[in-house]
Amino acid sequence: MGRRQDMTRRVAILTSGGDAPGMNAAIRAAVRTGVARELEMFGVRHGYTGLIAGDFIALGIREVGGIIDRGGTMLGTSRCPPFLTDAGQQAAVRRLTEHGITGLIVVGGNGSQHGSLALAQRGVPVVGIASTIDNDLAGSEVTLGATTALDVALEAISRLRVTASAHGRVFLVEVMGRACGYLALMAGIAGGAEAIVIPESEQSPEQVATAIQEAYERGKSHAIVVVAEGARHNADALAGYFTEHAERLNFELRVTKLGHVQRGGSPGAFDRLSATILGATAVERLCAGEHGILLGLTGTQVTTSTLAAAVQAAKPIESQWLHLAHVLSR
Ligand code: ADP
Ligand code: F6P
Repeated sequence: MGRRQDMTRRVAILTSGGDAPGMNAAIRAAVRTGVARELEMFGVRHGYTGLIAGDFIALGIREVGGIIDRGGTMLGTSRCPPFLTDAGQQAAVRRLTEHGITGLIVVGGNGSQHGSLALAQRGVPVVGIASTIDNDLAGSEVTLGATTALDVALEAISRLRVTASAHGRVFLVEVMGRACGYLALMAGIAGGAEAIVIPESEQSPEQVATAIQEAYERGKSHAIVVVAEGARHNADALAGYFTEHAERLNFELRVTKLGHVQRGGSPGAFDRLSATILGATAVERLCAGEHGILLGLTGTQVTTSTLAAAVQAAKPIESQWLHLAHVLSR
């Protein structure tokens, strides 16, 4: 964790990787906190792509008005393969120096915070804010955007259950999360799924089929199976198996992939408030000379980890949730 007691005067903020509901609220809080502290605030457009290109815009209190309730990010975001290279990172550092930036805030997920660490190792004073719907970043119990994405998934599952029940069908509902099963597990538990398939606790298609059969035998009129996109047996794989064994299994199946719909929600109360406190805290920490850190949340408390620790640590699913999922799916 770096600590330099110089005066931070020019702070830039960027959003990177998959957009997450709450990114705008974080930008707004950072900019207004910075202005209140008489800093010059800048936004970098389109994440690391804009950083390499030197695409900076000055941000004042009015430029960040009317965005607290908007999903996405007013600055734009990107996946930026050139930033993975030495040349890309050197160019980014050069741009920051040219613009006289003395502190950088990176709002993003696991990959983006690897990028923050790379910049920190090149001497840039960086503070990261843990923000991704995947919730796959250690250093934050819940990352910014995950709660809203979960609400979107739950809304969809409730609607799907209505039609599933009317037809007596099975629905495979695939949710995002990359290699992490958090969104699927929580959506499955809170959505009352009959089975949940996640990478951290793989189930074979036979096991899923048995869970569905047993649900019908217990008198259920439908079955919802929530599947993480990162599971070995994802929705396509399961659908393939069920179709192949259709005669024996004897249930009608539909597949819904929620996809990017999950990212586009207006941030809920938790994400707006979390983003606000994290955005403001990031500026305060830079002013206090703290950098090389990731800000996240445990409960409603801001937690601080070194970037190195945050990106290197695994983030396992808590076993109590897996246990609950098993018990409650009956
Ligand atoms: P997220 O931040 O949502 O996990 P990505 O994994 O796509 O999204 O990462 C966003 C960007 O962060 C990448 O396109 C790349 O520019 C940068 N990045 C990812 N991994 C690294 C890494 N190991 N080192 C440096 N930069 C990285
Ligand atoms: O990281 C967020 C996420 O939405 C993942 O859940 C998903 O796998 C990925 O981004 C989709 O990426 P893209 O928006 O580039 O298609």
